[in-house]
Amino acid sequence: MGGTVRAFASRPRREAFVLGLLRGRVKLRGAGRSEVSTVSRKFYITTPIYYVNAPPHIGHAYTTIAADVIARFKRLAGYDVLFATGTDEHGIKIERTARANGVDPKEWCDRIAGEFKQLWERLNISYDDFIRTTEPRHERVAQAIFERAYRNGDIYKGIYEGWYCASCESFYLESELVEGKCPVHGRPVEWTAEECYLFRLSQYQDWLLRHIEEHPEFVEPESRRNEVLSFVRSGLLDLAVSRSTFKWGIPVPFDPDQVIYVWIDALTNYITVAGYGQDEERFQKFWPADVHLVGKEILRFHAVIWPILLHSAGIAPPKKVFAHGWWTFKEQKISKSTGVLVDPWDLAQALARLSGAEVGVAVDAIRYFLLREVPFGQDGDFSDDNLITRFNADLANDYGNLLNRTLPLVERYFQGVVPEPGPAEDRDHLLRETALQVVDAVEGAIDRLELHRALQEIWRLLGAANKYLDEGAPWSLVRRGQERRAATVLYNTLEAFRIATILLSPTCPTATRRAWEQLGIPVPLEEQRLEDARKWQGFPWGTRVRPGKPIFPRIEREAVRAVVEEEQPQKGGERVEEISLDEFKRLDLRVGIVREAKRVPGTEKLLELRVDIGGEVRTLVTGLIPHYTAEDLVGKRIVVLANLQPRQVRGVTSQGMLLAAEWDNEVALLTVEKDPPPGAKVS
Ligand code: MSP
Repeated sequence: MGGTVRAFASRPRREAFVLGLLRGRVKLRGAGRSEVSTVSRKFYITTPIYYVNAPPHIGHAYTTIAADVIARFKRLAGYDVLFATGTDEHGIKIERTARANGVDPKEWCDRIAGEFKQLWERLNISYDDFIRTTEPRHERVAQAIFERAYRNGDIYKGIYEGWYCASCESFYLESELVEGKCPVHGRPVEWTAEECYLFRLSQYQDWLLRHIEEHPEFVEPESRRNEVLSFVRSGLLDLAVSRSTFKWGIPVPFDPDQVIYVWIDALTNYITVAGYGQDEERFQKFWPADVHLVGKEILRFHAVIWPILLHSAGIAPPKKVFAHGWWTFKEQKISKSTGVLVDPWDLAQALARLSGAEVGVAVDAIRYFLLREVPFGQDGDFSDDNLITRFNADLANDYGNLLNRTLPLVERYFQGVVPEPGPAEDRDHLLRETALQVVDAVEGAIDRLELHRALQEIWRLLGAANKYLDEGAPWSLVRRGQERRAATVLYNTLEAFRIATILLSPTCPTATRRAWEQLGIPVPLEEQRLEDARKWQGFPWGTRVRPGKPIFPRIEREAVRAVVEEEQPQKGGERVEEISLDEFKRLDLRVGIVREAKRVPGTEKLLELRVDIGGEVRTLVTGLIPHYTAEDLVGKRIVVLANLQPRQVRGVTSQGMLLAAEWDNEVALLTVEKDPPPGAKVS
């Protein structure tokens, strides 16, 4: 590692000092003694815990990916990180959903919590704790906090009347309703009047105002902070904190007829995870949380109720609540209540199929896209087209292609061994300066939660490196016999790429690992720290590179058109052009047997079929409703076009097409005589 040692010796003083901090330790020298102690820095970040009334979608993935990127970055910077997510499993809404699905609530919660965990694994979410509110460790904490507020006199018994939205699990004032419906979900609200416990929120209004005013960083972004301030200034009402009309909740410890209001239950998850009441040392270390990341619609719960509840119990409030914006899909909110759902795993699989990238890399592209496309804090509209543009331009071209054009040059001119750089010229200094500035800028942006800005900065470095390589043109240097200079240009390009790869690793963990393997650096990427990105010329020369396949293969627009297009009804009676027999033979038509059929949720006419085409069962999405029901189709022999490019229809990948006749708004399936086996060729 000759390069590393030399670079270390020439590092300016300021960097050396920063490095001391980066490992998460500060050296303290006592007067008269040369004692060295280490102080480790902690970072605790949370996502909301998600309701288990429906499976996860891209909106949940957004918050969780953002938290994951921050957590990974902080680990890279040497922090001791606690990153928690989980599921919110109590309340009337969950109870009703479970019953509607014919199972008891616990069984339902187990099922959906499992789906969340599975998705987080697939999306490479590195959480340290997954909390479920039905766990005994949490029930104890929720009860303890409730009891503490009761003993303080902050909770009293009364009657609460109001409009309740089961989707929000929240009461609304008449004046807050929009056309008599829930302002968030647009759904009917229920008039509820019941005996319950109430919490004296009103008592803490002045304390909270002062807290928010004195801690400008407590609620971010600033526009959201102003909203919270004016809400608090308008006056806080006491809050109903228990319910008695259903049972699916944590019992009030001193009154078994009541269950704790689901939001009080849910919010306390953040201290359960930190070890409250169970592991004092852990709690001292991790509480207060550094950031609660939330969507803007649940900011009030986190920035008003939560700090007051904690304050009443004598516990410090979290350091920051950050509310990000909403993703919409074709301008509609993505959520269970609107029926517009985008499944991130389906999306990743489609992207992998389209590009030929491995699925983990496609996941990285989605992670990158979500954070890069929209400034963190603002709303955004999801579009496949923009995703593909970012995939091709940023990931395939600026990042992937920089590697794919540098490594072959190292192979060609230096036998695949990274050469030692020669003396630096102005443009080399400039690249070095850019790289070092970018490392600082990325760290600063992450600390300010400007995740899009952090990515822009990494791309500033990639842009500079691409330009440096183009202008340095090592191929013509070699032609002119200037091998030493060519070595410098290639070395520095790879060096900038190495630094960008470390910085990008929290966002794209799989793709950067693949790139690192191609660089051939023996110390694995997982063991790199931010300080390694600050060591200019830290790339050990003499390293044998291992060029491989492009990590982000470009996506062809033609293939995309076939995939994103929704099913279009075939028009009958049109003149069609003639084709040759050879052209017809390119169609792989086969007999298939429908094994399963179900409606695609959120659509009016689409059915998802599982069709046995001989040795393989394919998923087909077809618009057969109202002509056929799911039951009509199971067991039927149909004719399938098996070599149609797969395409994405409402979040489901359709792997073929079935044949049907269409006339006058009627549709009839093509079937076959004599019951041939599935897979029989049709010609
Ligand atoms: N269970 C409560 C939270 C309790 S936290 C103590 C809850 N759950 S939820 O399942 O409805 O999740 C809401 C959160 O999911 C949002 O705050 C946001 O983090 C994320 N999102 C859900 N849909 C989203 C979008 N369409 N866009 C962006 N984020 C979204 O509320």
